[in-house]
Amino acid sequence: MLKSIVKEAGEILKSGYFKDKKVSFKGDVDLVTEYDVKIENFLKERLKGYSLPIVGEESFEGEYPHSAIYIDPIDGTTNFVHNIAYTAISVGIWEDGEPVEGVVYNPILEELFYAKKGEGAYLNGQKIEVSLHSRLIDSLIATGFPYTKTKMGKDFHFVIESLKNILPKTRDIRRLGSAAIDLCYVACGRFAGFYEVNLKPWDVAAGVLIVREAGGKVTNNGGQKYRFGDIIVATNGKIHDELLKNLASY
Ligand code: IPD
Ligand code: CA
Ligand code: CA
Repeated sequence: MLKSIVKEAGEILKSGYFKDKKVSFKGDVDLVTEYDVKIENFLKERLKGYSLPIVGEESFEGEYPHSAIYIDPIDGTTNFVHNIAYTAISVGIWEDGEPVEGVVYNPILEELFYAKKGEGAYLNGQKIEVSLHSRLIDSLIATGFPYTKTKMGKDFHFVIESLKNILPKTRDIRRLGSAAIDLCYVACGRFAGFYEVNLKPWDVAAGVLIVREAGGKVTNNGGQKYRFGDIIVATNGKIHDELLKNLASY
């Protein structure tokens, strides 16, 4: 069962959280630890039975399949390295280009978010729903900053220009450092919305379904169906248009 396998993997994350970790660099500021690799290997072995291709962040190369198990062994690696508790394992199953099952587990805060298509979304077994906020000014919004920021290119300008537009119009903005957790926090109503540029399929594969099953809406920045690689916009549905309107053009 997906949930119990991910919970077991959570023990590996927890075992590394308070220890000194060997950190390597995938880019200027993109970190990876031995625990990212250990968790991914553990999950790949335990999820073999699903007879779907496995796309793990630390080992996958190639085109993203329409049907696959997408694994982010540690989403929020920078937090994990710096002992900030927003760090989680994310596993999302997609079939024919649609999410069908997803788990996001933060073993430090002991929060397990889960959804199966058509069956609702849950936090530690309790049903969750998106928030009721209908105006941006009453909303707490989350976003993230892509690793490409160091290049100060298109992504960076989208981040800065969007912040300029949105920050003055919201209750406030958070940058927690884990896109998977950001999406789950939209699902359980802690955030009313979330947007980010340049996320990878494993960051969002589980969270997209968890938001939708909690009654929320997920699109790209043009308001169309979200596809891997798009700028993601996930909200409670009620502030969706207002948030879209205030995003910078890309
Ligand atoms: C990152 C986190 C972060 C987001 C980055 C992601 P990682 O994933 O989700 O919140 O802003 O764009 O790459 O590297 O910790 O797995
Ligand atoms: Ca990630
Ligand atoms: Ca990761």
